[in-house]
Amino acid sequence: MARIPFIDQDECIGCGNCEESCPDVFRMNDDGIAEVHDPHGATIELIQDAIDACPVECISWEEE
Ligand code: F3S
Repeated sequence: MARIPFIDQDECIGCGNCEESCPDVFRMNDDGIAEVHDPHGATIELIQDAIDACPVECISWEEE
């Protein structure tokens, strides 16, 4: 089973770090909150970097 990133959008503060790290995976929606655009748009390592860069730790892995 593959892992894909999940964003708890109630916790996201819209800092944009995830989009900056992996712009093909994460993007900001019209409300200024991050969403997963393409869960396979970057390597596991790069997505993990984005997870680590989130100041409120609202991105996690889930099983696909
Ligand atoms: Fe939100 Fe965290 Fe990304 S606060 S914008 S999910 S780095």
